[in-house]
Amino acid sequence: MLVLGIETTCDETAAAVVERQADGSARILSNIVRSQTGEHAPYGGVVPEIAARAHVDLLDGIIANAMKDSGVDFPALSGVAAAAGPGLIGGVIVGLTTAKAIALVHRTPLIAVNHLEAHALTPRLTCALEFPYCLFLASGGHTQIVAVLGVGNYVRLGTTVDDAMGEAFDKVAKMLGLPYPGGPQVERAAVDGDATRFNFPRPMLGRPDANFSLSGLKTAVRNEAARIDPLEPQDISDICAGFQAAVLEATADRLSVGLKLFEERFGPPSALVAAGGVAANQAIRGALEGVAAKAQTTLIIPPPALCTDNGAMIAWAGAERLAAGLTDTLETPPRARWLLDANAQAPAGFANTRAGF
Ligand code: KG4
Ligand code: ZN
Repeated sequence: MLVLGIETTCDETAAAVVERQADGSARILSNIVRSQTGEHAPYGGVVPEIAARAHVDLLDGIIANAMKDSGVDFPALSGVAAAAGPGLIGGVIVGLTTAKAIALVHRTPLIAVNHLEAHALTPRLTCALEFPYCLFLASGGHTQIVAVLGVGNYVRLGTTVDDAMGEAFDKVAKMLGLPYPGGPQVERAAVDGDATRFNFPRPMLGRPDANFSLSGLKTAVRNEAARIDPLEPQDISDICAGFQAAVLEATADRLSVGLKLFEERFGPPSALVAAGGVAANQAIRGALEGVAAKAQTTLIIPPPALCTDNGAMIAWAGAERLAAGLTDTLETPPRARWLLDANAQAPAGFANTRAGF
């Protein structure tokens, strides 16, 4: 089965062709990602209108290159998948409409993929992983612990009550004067920092639920930065190291609870899996090793390039859905918000509309 995948939900314009064998094994035949960092950097964050226009300008060429690199012709495709949400609606419309046109012209099935489902299924693209597994999904818009029970079958065990984790990294970077996108910048600056200089709060530590909260930590960072002003490079490094250490400790605690809740409801998971842009962070990867070892489970994290947004994850989720007989009509709407777990409720005290709980 050969599937073309298209990703345009945020500031990456991406397309890829992935092959799925009947035994569930996978091969990435092409994977092209064009980050719009240069377009958005002057504004310190993603500007939705600029993103949508850039997707319009870039997408056709990127699809053409992805098809060329894969050596696959359009008539040979088993389906075309696009991220139909959640995300910035202008970009989602560009990707989904393009996929519909390809599906119509080449008479091939359309698969409207939930961007979060694509992150959730990525580990099955890179290794032979059986359901059910426990997913830690941490991106710019989401921070969740999810029981992945099967294709299209997800139960949310925990979520953020305010900021998403990637969003917190981005905001901390911005308040320290580091360039956008902030996550990798904070990680880099933290390497030379003293994580013990500041005693930042460890939010939600010891709570019996598996939810996250990051806005209090972010405020503590803001207060400290304002107190020191003007910041020297060593101050910035120390703050980044202290912030990252607090995130790591809180994450380890929240995930330990999440794994316990998973086991109570579904038995032992086949693995602890991390996905989404924040999973590209090497320090987080290290902390998760400890969590998995303590819970006596295996840790699986896709390579960094497949953790951040890309077309291969959309193509793969499309192939998984297609193999399960799930396709979509050309009337399928683009969706700015789209929960992975249809039964999930907003947690008590939920305060953020961007985090998409
Ligand atoms: O999954 P993703 O590429 O896009 C979304 O679906 O949001 O995640 C992007 C987020 C951004 O907030 C970015 O700052 C964060 O992931 N991120 C990182 C790192 N690389 C990307 N956060 C911390 N450390 C990193 N190395
Ligand atoms: Zn993403």
